[in-house]
Amino acid sequence: MAIEFQQVNFAYGQGSLAQPVLHNVNLTIPAGQITAIVGQTGSGKSTLVQHINGLLKPTAGQVKVDDFVLSAETKEKDLPKLRAQVGMVFQFPESQLFAATVLEDVMYGPLNFGQSKVAARQAAEKALQRVGLAEEFWTKSPFALSGGQMRRAAIAGTLAVDPAIMVLDEPAAGLDPRGQAELLDLVRSLKDEGKTVVLISHQMDQVMALADQVVVMAHGEVQAVEDPVTLFNRPAAWFQQEHLELPTAGKFALELEQGGWHFDQRPLTLEALAAAINAKEVEHE
Ligand SMILES: Nc1ncnc2c1ncn2[C@@H]1O[C@H](COP(=O)(O)OP(=O)(O)OP(=O)(O)O)[C@@H](O)[C@H]1O
Ligand SMILES: [Mg+2]
Repeated sequence: MAIEFQQVNFAYGQGSLAQPVLHNVNLTIPAGQITAIVGQTGSGKSTLVQHINGLLKPTAGQVKVDDFVLSAETKEKDLPKLRAQVGMVFQFPESQLFAATVLEDVMYGPLNFGQSKVAARQAAEKALQRVGLAEEFWTKSPFALSGGQMRRAAIAGTLAVDPAIMVLDEPAAGLDPRGQAELLDLVRSLKDEGKTVVLISHQMDQVMALADQVVVMAHGEVQAVEDPVTLFNRPAAWFQQEHLELPTAGKFALELEQGGWHFDQRPLTLEALAAAINAKEVEHE
């Protein structure tokens, strides 16, 4: 399910208190792919993605999600149709958990969209297993969980509805290295199922590993839309200017470039970096 931002402007607050945040955003997020959104803190990433499920509505312009059109005129009563298609995991998962137990929390979505109690429970259990939250936590209060476990519960809550689009706002925050590796696998499996994934991330290794396309935001504007290899091959000065990092291997390659090395194609994974260094050694023998 594709998403299209057309001339989207957004301001928090109204009248003299209006704070413009998004400026003339035009952006296509292709169906069935993983789109990463990166950019400095405060650049408008979370504000942008909250337009995909109608949590925020454009002040001007429109967002098309498949054949649903979201604009300033969209009525609240029409939003459930959109929300059934768009699962959103918020930047701060504690803000979306609310039920007395984890299981009830995850069942809420399926129940809300009309599933029977039995079906909702099945969907919730499947989702909880999929995010790797052990059964012993299912009957606990979501607020008794650790940050990483809360994140898993919040992801399960959206997965249980099986939406065509999954929006994940910094889902790796609060996860330990193993949790992060599991998250990577989960995001890949969502794509394999044909879902459209939108992922906000500050971790460029994750972006490199997952994204088909990367959207760079700065000051509420789209600065670049590129595949990760093209993006991470931009000149060093651009990354400084945008306060953007590179993947670990790319950062190291940049240091080597500053020391006089030349790469035809900047290595962006550790494997590629090792191969490039090996090739240089052969050259010098
Ligand atoms: N509820 C709000 N009311 C008023 N201003 C807000 C609100 N939420 C965000 N902003 C402002 O909008 C701008 C963009 O914020 P946003 O949270 O979208 O950025 P972000 O790119 O997600 O940042 P981060 O990487 O820190 O999560 C910031 O200047 C922020 O202060
Ligand atoms: Mg944010």
